[in-house]
Amino acid sequence: MMLSRTQGVVAAAAAALLPTMVSGQGPYSLASPDAIKQTASDAVWDLMQYYKGNLTGQTPGILPGPPPAGPYYWWEAGAMWETLIDYWLYTGDSSYNQEIIAGMQWQVGPNQDYMPPNVTASLGNDDQGFWGMAAMTAAEMNFPDPASDQPGWLALAQGVWATQANPDRHDKTCGGGLRWQIPFANNGYDYKNSIANGCFFNLGARLARYTGNDTYAQYANETWDWIETIGFLDNSTYAIYDGAHVETNCTDINKAEFSYNNAVFTLGAAYMYNYTGGSDLWKNRVQKLVDHGLSQFFPHGIAVEPACETQKTCTTDMLAFKGFMHRWYTTATKVAPFIAGQVLPVLQTSANAAIKTCTAGNNGRQCGFVWTTGAFDGLMGAGQQMDVVGAASSLLVDNVHPPLTAKTGGTSQGNPNAGQQRDKFNANFAPITTGDRAGAGILTALVIGGIFGLFGWMSMGD
Ligand SMILES: *[C@@H]1O[C@H](CO)[C@@H](O)[C@H](O)[C@H]1NC(C)=O
Ligand SMILES: *[C@@H]1O[C@H](CO)[C@@H](O)[C@H](O)[C@H]1NC(C)=O
Ligand SMILES: *[C@@H]1O[C@H](CO)[C@@H](O)[C@H](O)[C@H]1NC(C)=O
Ligand SMILES: *[C@@H]1O[C@H](CO)[C@@H](O)[C@H](O)[C@H]1NC(C)=O
Ligand SMILES: *[C@@H]1O[C@H](CO)[C@@H](O)[C@H](O)[C@H]1NC(C)=O
Ligand SMILES: *[C@@H]1O[C@H](CO)[C@@H](O)[C@H](O)[C@H]1NC(C)=O
Ligand SMILES: *[C@@H]1O[C@H](CO)[C@@H](O)[C@H](O)[C@H]1NC(C)=O
Repeated sequence: MMLSRTQGVVAAAAAALLPTMVSGQGPYSLASPDAIKQTASDAVWDLMQYYKGNLTGQTPGILPGPPPAGPYYWWEAGAMWETLIDYWLYTGDSSYNQEIIAGMQWQVGPNQDYMPPNVTASLGNDDQGFWGMAAMTAAEMNFPDPASDQPGWLALAQGVWATQANPDRHDKTCGGGLRWQIPFANNGYDYKNSIANGCFFNLGARLARYTGNDTYAQYANETWDWIETIGFLDNSTYAIYDGAHVETNCTDINKAEFSYNNAVFTLGAAYMYNYTGGSDLWKNRVQKLVDHGLSQFFPHGIAVEPACETQKTCTTDMLAFKGFMHRWYTTATKVAPFIAGQVLPVLQTSANAAIKTCTAGNNGRQCGFVWTTGAFDGLMGAGQQMDVVGAASSLLVDNVHPPLTAKTGGTSQGNPNAGQQRDKFNANFAPITTGDRAGAGILTALVIGGIFGLFGWMSMGD
């Protein structure tokens, strides 16, 4: 997802823009637990109107896409299933559970590690990671198990983690770390970024806590150290930047800050804090990430995506990030309770702003994206619905148990040997030569140059 996918998506977002701004209170309330449930239930129904995977002739598990077939990259459905698992947890509404199980199992791929061949052309470590994190959430929350001949949620999370821990994916450029894309022929293979490494870090921290196996924590540690050393995480401000190219040994850091990078690392660090029995090291890291995250992404107590929102250049991908902030920050308060007093009131203010952007639209009630306005902005989509479902349902945080572990009641079927096979598409090719690398780099430079050109043009248009 992200940079190289920007262009087509801006057009898709623009197409969904309605001509009028509608202001008002919106149809929703969060004034009581029942009101929250009703709001979340309506918003989730509206979200599912984007899902066609259970209709005859459609592919189960995915949202319409990837571009140009539809606006949504494959990862976003993984994020949607996780949003729905959280929705089930917080509200107790199991209406969508069969869809969740069917969709998440259809997409596991031949090796049960969320690498289905259909999406090879845009398969990033982050894309795979989002599906792995959804499976991890299912395991931690004792979401209903799939049929006994299907892989368990824990086994799927382990499968994703193990493919990413494989030395094949950690070359020496930039001193380590995962690349963005998995197959070397993909545009973006020459880019190492925070979200790919953040998903791997997050999954490792959670697997360590769930299984008690320290190997996962050691890898998570290593990933943290790497993003700090390479400067993707600025260790004075705790800003997390987007990424950099291997051709420059990761010195050309793109300093755009996106909320999901902060959120994915905050949640992972909160698990590491919990796994280490409340160590000062991880406590300090969680605190600094939260301090930075709240000031950068909730400047007036309301979620904002500053890198793109004010310029109206958010891609379809970026429109879903606010929901991750809300849901992952909420879960972080369960495993690092010392942040609850600081975080939860902000999330409540932000959720109340979010529902004011919802209105009756072409497609039932729909919610907008710019939450600071108190009005529907006409920007509709699955990401915006996911944001509101996440923001609303997670307000019921006090009603639910913390993420479980194998020792505290988690029963999901695991498989420590999952994900041990090599990536076929990379194993089939000779090692990359300098010529190939340069070629891929030039392609990416052209694409990214084009995007910044577009951004420049769009901001001048404003
Ligand atoms: C598909 O899912 C939607 C949303 O969960 C549901 O309303 C609809 O009945 C389902 N359709 C079929 C054919 O299963
Ligand atoms: C792959 O695409 C084919 C053709 O659209 C579809 O039938 C199949 O279900 C897809 N597989 C997965 C795992 O999505
Ligand atoms: C590339 O960056 C890594 C990590 O900062 C560093 O250890 C290594 O020496 C650098 N390599 C070159 C050739 O500069
Ligand atoms: C811990 O996890 C690693 C990585 O999956 C695995 O190789 C190892 O066998 C596990 N150790 C135990 C004791 O289960
Ligand atoms: C992680 O790194 C810290 C130092 O940065 C060390 O104290 C700790 O033992 C490491 N934990 C694991 C699980 O490797
Ligand atoms: C802090 O960041 C600087 C600049 O990127 C880096 O050189 C240094 O190694 C980092 N400190 C740690 C402890 O990683
Ligand atoms: C770890 O998480 C549990 C909830 O699973 C919580 O009760 C406990 O207080 C947390 N540990 C620390 C050190 O905060």
